[in-house]
Amino acid sequence: MTMLTRRNLLKTAVAAGAAGVGLSAAGKFAGWAAAKPEPLILKTASTEARLMDGAPTKNVLTYGEAGLPPVVRMRKGEAFAARLINGIDDPTTIHWHGIRVPNKMDGVPFLVQPYVYQGDHFDYTFTPPDAGTFWYHPHCNTLIQMGHGLTGVIVVENPKDPAFDAEMVINLRDWRLGDDGQFIEQFRPRDAAKAGTFGTVRTANWLEQPQFDAPAGGLVRLRAALTDVTRIYAFRVDGAEATVIALDGNPVPQRFTPDALQLGPGQRLELAVRMPDDEGAIVSLRDVRGTKQKILATLRSVGTSLKHDLRDLGPLEVNPVAEVDLSNAGRIPLALSATAENVSANSICGSLGYSFWAINKVPWPGDTPDPAAPLAELKLGQSYIIDMENLTPHAHPIHLHGMSFKVLSSSARAVQPLVSDTYLILPDEKVQLAFVADNPGDWLLHCHIIEHQKTGMTSYFRVA
Ligand code: C2O
Ligand code: CU
Repeated sequence: MTMLTRRNLLKTAVAAGAAGVGLSAAGKFAGWAAAKPEPLILKTASTEARLMDGAPTKNVLTYGEAGLPPVVRMRKGEAFAARLINGIDDPTTIHWHGIRVPNKMDGVPFLVQPYVYQGDHFDYTFTPPDAGTFWYHPHCNTLIQMGHGLTGVIVVENPKDPAFDAEMVINLRDWRLGDDGQFIEQFRPRDAAKAGTFGTVRTANWLEQPQFDAPAGGLVRLRAALTDVTRIYAFRVDGAEATVIALDGNPVPQRFTPDALQLGPGQRLELAVRMPDDEGAIVSLRDVRGTKQKILATLRSVGTSLKHDLRDLGPLEVNPVAEVDLSNAGRIPLALSATAENVSANSICGSLGYSFWAINKVPWPGDTPDPAAPLAELKLGQSYIIDMENLTPHAHPIHLHGMSFKVLSSSARAVQPLVSDTYLILPDEKVQLAFVADNPGDWLLHCHIIEHQKTGMTSYFRVA
């Protein structure tokens, strides 16, 4: 017998919304937002949320009234508009992580736009060129704002995609809460100088281990966005056949079974899961990194088997990312290191007050009107290869704004020629990432472990 606890009710409601089945359109927890000519309103708000057993957590931040930030739906090649209204007492912006937007729409304070103060608004308009799973978050005071909830998933649909029997959108993240369910200090300097400060409560769609229903024998498109400020995951699926169909918004050249697949903050995993035939069978999405395995979310087979086959699933359309001209590519050496120098400048957008990390020996001074010189000035239309080297004993998910790169080779592992915006570089790894500098403007490049980003591991390219 199923216990009708509040949590179970919530889980059921969220499952229906996330899967987009049946009552989702009218459902209170639907969390959908259609791309329309009129702007989608994304208003920041402070709210309460039940993130663990016990008292609700106060000072949780979201876009909208309550509950997790909505899944924003766009269509490849169709104009999208959103109005950010700032309802909280802290300046903010929105960055559309992984979407190749015009520079003015990229959401980085000082570099491309002013802060949006409480009560003010900013209009974002762009046409997403690529289909896939992306996400959105502030780029101001990010450790607190993202740490307290401002991370949402974006689905850019492609009408040409193969048909699935259900879709699940999962926002994976942690929270730093004490036993009383309230926020504790967001970081510890000694951890910021290492792998980062981890959360204490782990959630999927703001729930601990939610369970979603999916049609037995059906093919589920599971889109997971890693929006935590710190945690690196190693993914495995138990109880069903599953294959990776896309990473970071781009189809993978060769599909593969996730077997402790490591992905870091900022990255997105897209899986095709073939649900078991038996009603009630449970499939689990797990993080197997480290010594303690963790079930992140489960899927439960319902109904009579649809008897669909993963092998019948057609390919996803490749995104229109420019082909790199390797015979004529410029080289950009990029070394990630620890530093003891400097202290970052005070910034309205949040400074942690320390410098622990550097790119090419320069620790980023913080979001200031007078940032460091660009890492490189790139010629519009020219191809480049980044020779990136990790001289630290920690992994870093390095994210490039505005342009997608292709992974060419790694000193540490066999790599597919993945197209991506974030590469998780392992300790001592050297990797070559190639891209065409085809988007003019100033484009940030930083580690997506936010404490690393905010204590020096940030720089930018100027494309002109
Ligand atoms: Cu996900 Cu600079 O951002
Ligand atoms: Cu890092």
